Amino acid sequence: MNGRFYITTPIYYPSDRLHIGHAYCTVAADAMARYKRLQGCDVMFLTGTDEHGMKIEDKAREAGITPKQFVDNIVEGPRGVKDLWKLMNISYDRFIRTTDEYHVKAIQSIFRRMYDNGDIYKGTYRGKYCKPCESFWTESQLVDGKCPDCGREVVDAEEEAYFFRLSKYADKVQDLLENTDFLQPRSRVNEMVNNFIKPGLEDLCVSRTSFTWGIPVDFDPGHVVYVWVDALSNYITALGFDNDQYDDYDKYWPADVHFVGKEIVRFHSIIWPAMLMSMGLPLPKKVYGHGWLNFGGEKMSKSRGNVVDPYILAEKFGVDALRFFMLRTFPFGSDGNFSNEALIQTINVDLANDLGNLVSRTAAMAEKYFGGALPAGGELADLDGELKALADEVTANYRTQMDDFQFSVALNEVWRLISRANKYIDETMPWALAKDEAKKPRLLSVLKNLCEVIRVSAILISPVMPDTAEAIFQRLGVPAEGRTWDAVGFDLERSGRWNTANGAPLFPRIDMDAAIKELEAAAEEAKKAALPPIEIEPQATEYVDFDTFCKSDFRAVKVKACEHVKKSEKLLRFTLDDGTGTDRQILSGIAKWYQPEQLVGKTLVAIVNLPPRKMMGLDSNGMLISAVHTEHGEEKLNLLIVSDDIPAGAKLC
Ligand code: ME8
Ligand code: MG
Repeated sequence: MNGRFYITTPIYYPSDRLHIGHAYCTVAADAMARYKRLQGCDVMFLTGTDEHGMKIEDKAREAGITPKQFVDNIVEGPRGVKDLWKLMNISYDRFIRTTDEYHVKAIQSIFRRMYDNGDIYKGTYRGKYCKPCESFWTESQLVDGKCPDCGREVVDAEEEAYFFRLSKYADKVQDLLENTDFLQPRSRVNEMVNNFIKPGLEDLCVSRTSFTWGIPVDFDPGHVVYVWVDALSNYITALGFDNDQYDDYDKYWPADVHFVGKEIVRFHSIIWPAMLMSMGLPLPKKVYGHGWLNFGGEKMSKSRGNVVDPYILAEKFGVDALRFFMLRTFPFGSDGNFSNEALIQTINVDLANDLGNLVSRTAAMAEKYFGGALPAGGELADLDGELKALADEVTANYRTQMDDFQFSVALNEVWRLISRANKYIDETMPWALAKDEAKKPRLLSVLKNLCEVIRVSAILISPVMPDTAEAIFQRLGVPAEGRTWDAVGFDLERSGRWNTANGAPLFPRIDMDAAIKELEAAAEEAKKAALPPIEIEPQATEYVDFDTFCKSDFRAVKVKACEHVKKSEKLLRFTLDDGTGTDRQILSGIAKWYQPEQLVGKTLVAIVNLPPRKMMGLDSNGMLISAVHTEHGEEKLNLLIVSDDIPAGAKLC
């Protein structure tokens, strides 16, 4: 056993379906957890969901269900959070939901601890209040002085609330940030100190009375605990702190690292340490603030409507390719721009071409020249020593970079080795060696060295692409002991026999244009499906007086002829019997919904006393009445078609 390692992701808000941005952090944490397990660590990898707060209460109300039903569906339901982590091959050891009974009890006791030691006190929360939204806002959150949610007027308001003495810990937290490696990457330290600590840390409002979906303060039940106090504490309640559900607090706390997105670094590097200091508990060893995955230059988010659905991508390209792309492409501390083109490019170049080809070529040659069984013996050359030296260097660098959470750099190292091995094939030309019986020993060594490079690479990529590593081990017939971290060293004299097998390519090449088209169509489909099935325009709230209404002359009309108006995509030209004996012509912009022949002979409704209009050089005398609504974001129209028993010209009133 090589020590313990406790790693966490943020606990996600199940207020909407999760997207690739959420998967990014979770995949990174998973790769780190697998890397540590590979090294023999006793790993605790925690993730979960943050289920309280006004946002979720509101969403549930909109959906007409209870908040608990709402979160249950998104967390446990089909294609929910847990399904997504299963799909993404996330090997979490524990999943916490903040609605879990043990967590609720533990939060009440954590709140009481800070209250009892004098760090939580009762005061008055002053701010701007939006009555219809039941929301408090600070001056700076307002948009043009109005509620940022609904745009209505806000009023000055106060509510009784509990406060946490955050100000008391300002100096200690500043010292922690500036003089230790607690917060990484280092670039985030200045931002925290300059933007939040130096301007003066104010005490933090840690209870609310204006909504109820939260954990009640047990000694003052009108108050619910502020959602961030509830959420941050998950990292210790999930280990059993202040509860009997688990008994791992002493074993795993303090955490080795909290992975968090950059916008929540403030909560993790200022508020969370202060809370722990208040309770006299050890601080986590590190907080790592990673960047955002953007899409089309903006942060991916539900409200911007630019979310990328991991289900679509994983089903199309495979989970390993997706995991690899995220960690290989974007430096973990910086923002990255996600694009389908870049994803496909990475699959084609790094996976299909470099890694996939190396494995296929090697297995195919081993099969062809040795029937797939590579015995002991052979003949080494200087070039082999060079290959081994590079493998050793790459492994050492990989390790340094992984220990520093630099996934993209670590993978880049592995690809240096893979590229070198492809070049080694070109240099050694096994097909030429195979022609000369005397060179058979050399051929044997070349192929075994290639297998050895692939084996070492497979160990190194296994935390990021576990299924691919497994497939490679099988393809080469690597025994269990050759798959471990202890066996990561490149061994020119590797004694065991290789038993290779041919097989389908690990990563088939993707046709970029065709795949992009399919993805766009799928995204369009998904976007549509997410829109409300039926939307209708709200009813008018203003009265129209009866006399005005009566002036509108609605009549039944029969369609004598109907045709497309030339050069117009929208207009149909109707010749109508309106009961007067003279044909009436009406033009109507409904060509998108009807074929002219469908309508001939039908009885419709028209308003006949609108002033005549000219459209495309033709007269239109009146307007046909239709029903309109929106279906999954698409405008729908139905002409009012009435009974043929109604004679032409009958007045509607
Ligand atoms: O903040 N790229 O939950 P959350 C990268 N409940 N990361 C992204 C991202 C993107 N496009 N979109 C979201 C919360 N994330 C709190 C956490 S922890 C005690 C409580 C990341 O669901 C985001 O940066 O809004 C954050 O780290 C995580 O997803 C959870 O976001
Ligand atoms: Mg967020």
